[in-house]
Amino acid sequence: MEENRILLSVREMPQQWYNVLPDLPVPLPPVIHPGTKQPIKPEDLAPIFPMSLIRQEFAPDRWIEIPDPVMDVYRLYRPTPLRRARNLEKALKTKARIYFKDESVSPPGSHKPNTAIAQAYYNKMEGVKRIATETGAGQWGSALAFACKMFDMECTIYMVKVSYNQKPYRRLLCQVWGATMYPSPSDKTNFGRKVLAENPDSPGSLGIAISEAVEDAVSREDTKYSLGSVLNHVLLHQTIVGLETKKQLELAGEKPDVLIGCVGGGSNFGGFILPFIPDKLKGENIRMVAVEPKACPTLTKGLYKYDFGDTACTTPLLKMFTLGHSFIPPGIHAGGLRYHGAAPIVCHLLNNKLIEAVAYHQKECFEAAVLFARTEGFLPAPETSHAIRAVIEEAKDAPEGKVIVYNHSGHGHFDLSAYQAYFEGKLEDYEYPEEKIRQALSELPEIE
Ligand SMILES: Cc1ncc(COP(=O)(O)O)c(C=O)c1O
Repeated sequence: MEENRILLSVREMPQQWYNVLPDLPVPLPPVIHPGTKQPIKPEDLAPIFPMSLIRQEFAPDRWIEIPDPVMDVYRLYRPTPLRRARNLEKALKTKARIYFKDESVSPPGSHKPNTAIAQAYYNKMEGVKRIATETGAGQWGSALAFACKMFDMECTIYMVKVSYNQKPYRRLLCQVWGATMYPSPSDKTNFGRKVLAENPDSPGSLGIAISEAVEDAVSREDTKYSLGSVLNHVLLHQTIVGLETKKQLELAGEKPDVLIGCVGGGSNFGGFILPFIPDKLKGENIRMVAVEPKACPTLTKGLYKYDFGDTACTTPLLKMFTLGHSFIPPGIHAGGLRYHGAAPIVCHLLNNKLIEAVAYHQKECFEAAVLFARTEGFLPAPETSHAIRAVIEEAKDAPEGKVIVYNHSGHGHFDLSAYQAYFEGKLEDYEYPEEKIRQALSELPEIE
């Protein structure tokens, strides 16, 4: 009988996260204070994040212990399965072996709780009562709402208005877990009111919602802000995904030739590939491919420059591939991939040619997702479908025994309206015009 799932027991779950910072051959460029233009100091971040997370942002240690209360919540759904996609292999008539790490089995249905749980815990330990955040289509918001409920904390979420109205079910899921939800731009913050005054019909964007959540957090004593991607500590928490995958591949007697993940802010891709970076640096021939939408081509068309993380220019400056903080991506259905920048660690690896990046149109990604659902059964999130498209390309003309592994970052059960639009032929492919990207890039701050 052929095995389709490689499972770890709870005892085999990694007990430490992996921090890539000390292993990087070239150090990561520092985060810059927008006022002084000097590298930021940990205390500069104290109004928005708890000190334990700030320390992790700059940590020099290779391994960081996962606290027991975080392990307890992880055990509700971890270790997650590594699955072999044999039916997909047959449908593609490929000679490759395809595996996927199934992060869709968490309560909110994605990899996002891996960091939400850790962040809620560290905030709780430092006496924080309430966490404010933003969410696009709702995956991150629902993960943080779940995590806050596990640690008995309040959660306030600024949800990009277009999704708030079009995707009521993720919003309701956040409410089931007790979160307070506002459509962004909202009348709850100065920045939201300013955006509404200029454009009452603004559909919102992730950059605007981040500005609102940060303003909420700095204006209240009992509240901190939480970010679901991009930052070093988020990628650190997500390394549980890659660490488990490594153990599971060893159990299966496999060595990966290519690792693939979709990139919005870079957290599922980063968490998946970082534990393999030391092997790559030792000379192992592993390719790592980041996949993004052509409508928001951050890694493939952006510039590697310092930029703000939000639209209101309130965050520190991060060195990253960016399309410019004023870039508002078209309304593709993979809401979680619509961000103007990406994780500095992922960008640094790309700039140093340790990883590769590719971009696909949304229709070819939905086509891949439907083929996947019709062979493997599981319905992928629109974000995840980008990784599956890349897997299919890698499997074409693959030599015998090529091992392709991708991170199945989430399920698409709340995205059926997007599938409906696809079946009804209503989806459009957008290639963002070069001149619009050039214009957004002309507004970048001058740092070098
Ligand atoms: C299922 C899923 N995959 C991927 C992403 C992209 O985020 P990141 O690049 O941080 O993993 C998201 C973001 O919401 C998501 O919901």
